[in-house]
Formats: sequence, structure tokens, C-alpha cells
Amino acid sequence: MDSCKIAVVGATGAVGQVFLEIAQQRNFPMDEIRLCASIRSVGKKIKYKSQEIEVELCTPELLQEVDFAFISASGDVSREFAPLAAKRGTVAIDDSSEFRMDADVPLVVPEVNAEDLENHKGIVAIPNCSTTPLVMVLNPLMKNSSVKRVVVDTFQSVTGTGAAALSEMKDQSQAVLNNSPVIVKEYPHQIAFNVLPHIEPFQENGYTREEMKMLYETQKILHDSNILVSATCVRVPVAVSHSEAIHIEFEQPVSPQEIKEILGKQAGIKIVDDPFSGVYPMPIDAAGGDDVLVGRIRKDISHPNGIALWVVCDNLRKGAALNAIQIAEEMMKREVVLKSNWRK
Ligand SMILES: NC(=O)c1ccc[n+]([C@@H]2O[C@H](COP(=O)([O-])OP(=O)(O)OC[C@H]3O[C@@H](n4cnc5c(N)ncnc54)[C@H](OP(=O)(O)O)[C@@H]3O)[C@@H](O)[C@H]2O)c1
Repeated sequence: MDSCKIAVVGATGAVGQVFLEIAQQRNFPMDEIRLCASIRSVGKKIKYKSQEIEVELCTPELLQEVDFAFISASGDVSREFAPLAAKRGTVAIDDSSEFRMDADVPLVVPEVNAEDLENHKGIVAIPNCSTTPLVMVLNPLMKNSSVKRVVVDTFQSVTGTGAAALSEMKDQSQAVLNNSPVIVKEYPHQIAFNVLPHIEPFQENGYTREEMKMLYETQKILHDSNILVSATCVRVPVAVSHSEAIHIEFEQPVSPQEIKEILGKQAGIKIVDDPFSGVYPMPIDAAGGDDVLVGRIRKDISHPNGIALWVVCDNLRKGAALNAIQIAEEMMKREVVLKSNWRK
């Protein structure tokens, strides 16, 4: 398959806008693009290359007319439209958490488990934007020595919540600096000049849903239910890019130099690690780029087989839109898109 027809559902949102930017940058091969959003945006025009494209409502008929529906809207929208698309022979590439743990739905980071795309049944899910950089790092390292346990603390930007959260952080920052009252809508507390150890609802076990996603999604993508992941997910007042402090316990001792060499050869990863010169990954450097940046690679002094590192990744690009486009590219390359190939 050399070219395709696509629909972007959620085209006006934080991920949707970045999706359109990346599709242009990569010259994603398509004959037709349809843009969908909520009723609020219908009729609005969005520029794509030289075209002005009018935003439409998503309908079953529209979904039938395309090869891929990239859905980046909300869980409710995905629940409604992804199965409708799949039923009509269209591949839904879904950004929400709705179908990620469904046994019939591959959960894919192309650099890690592209072969899972061969078994799709019309819906392919994208991992949580914090899981993606974690599995990008763990996968090549596991080939060297099994990973037993991971402790990860995330520092997640506000665009991880969407476009409205970014506006809220800017408004709150202005209000604090002007000594004006702060209005809180998107988060349980003020995010400007603050950090919130609370992303998604708390579960019975004291972890949040976001933290449990990092365990379950990691096990599914890496096909290893023995890997244990303990996450603490924290929202920070950063515009774009999620950071993660990761501690990995391997089966055998591994040196920081080995880690550097293995990750240095991995597509999609860039080593940024010269701390004595002040060089380490930062959100402002990862934002707008495609690579997962890895630095602060060191021996974990609390465990003989432990390694500690610091990872930063653009949540809107590799954490969402870029991963979606790479999945579509990989499916076209493997020729597993065409309706007749999977719709039996
Ligand atoms: N942000 C991230 O870093 C990230 C990473 C991974 C996954 N995701 C997932 O990606 C999805 C979108 O996130 P986002 O950050 O882009 O959110 P966002 O900025 O809030 O954008 C939401 C988009 O969904 C559209 N929408 C709302 N209701 C709709 C409906 N009934 N039909 C069609 N479109 C509708 C909105 O259109 P209007 O403009 O008309 O309201 C807007 O385009 C979510 O499922 C999120 O969990 C996000």
C-alpha cells in the first residue's frame, strides 16, 4: 500500500494539531484527509499543506470512506467510533486508554513490538505517553539481561491533559504573578508553581490509574508478565514533554557503559549524557523532537544489579501523534491495512 485515505478525529486538539504537523513534516502518503472534532468546531477551517480543510462531525459513513481513523479525542469518543470504524473495515488507531488492555487489540510502539500489528482486528491502540518512553528503553536492555523490577517516577507536562490544561497553566501563572485569584478547573489543585502527585483517580491499592497503566501496558507491550513496575506519576508545570526517573533492577549486573552502548544503537533513542558539562535531557530540548532522550545513566548504589537513568520524551509526538503515524507507516509497509487482509 503506497498511499491511503485518513480521518483525524480530534483534529483541533493538542494531539490532533501535532498530528497534522508531523504528517506534513514526514510527507505521510495520503490521497485524502478528513478532519473531525466536536460540534463546537464543525465548519472551522484548518490548513493542511496548501489546502483549507473544513472540520466535520465524525459519522459511520465518513469512517467507511477512509483506510485509517486516527482517534485522539476522549475515551467516550473512542468507545463510540473505534468499533464502528473497525466494523466498516477501517483501521482505527486509537490514542485513548479505552482498548489498550483488550486481548484483541495490539498495543504498539513500532520500535518495540511492530510484529503485533500482524494480528490486528481493526483497532490498534497507542500506549500511555509515559509508558512509551519506558518500553523504548527497557526493550533493548532486556535482550542483554532480564529486567526484574522497575521503579519509575514521572514528571508529566500539562499538555498530557490536553489543550485546555496548557491554557489553564498559563492563566494561573499570570494570576499568581499578578497576585490575582487563581481559577482551578482541569486539575484538583492549582498547577502553576506547584506539582501534583495525582494523575487520574486513586485505586484501592493507593496507586492511581495512570500508575497502574504503566505496569499493565509495559507487561503487554514487552510480552512479559513477570516485569514488576512501581510508578509514581506526578503532574508538573511544564508545557510539553514528560520526564521520568527510572530505576531498573536486572537479573545480572550491568554497567552504565553497556547501557549507553545498547541504547546508543537503538532507533528513536538519543543519548544526552555528560552531566559534568551540564548536559542531560530536559523537557525544553525534547519538545518538538522525535527522539526519546536518555541521560544521567549511572549505577544504582542501592542494588548490585541496579541502573538509574533519566528519560525525557515529547508527549504529544512520540507519546501520541508520532507513534500513531509510525504505526500506520508500519502497517502499510507490512501490507496489513487492506480490509480484505483482516476483515474475514
Ligand atoms: N495529550 C497527550 O500527551 C496524549 C498522549 C497520549 C494519548 N492522549 C489521548 O489523546 C486523546 C486526545 O488528547 P488531547 O490531549 O489532544 O485532548 P484535547 O486537547 O482536549 O483535544 C480533544 C479533541 O477531541 C475533540 N472532541 C471532543 N469531543 C468530540 C466528539 N464528540 N467528536 C469528535 N471529536 C471530539 C475536540 O474537539 P473540539 O476542539 O471541537 O472540542 C478536540 O479536537 C485523549 O484520548 C488522550 O487521552 C493524549
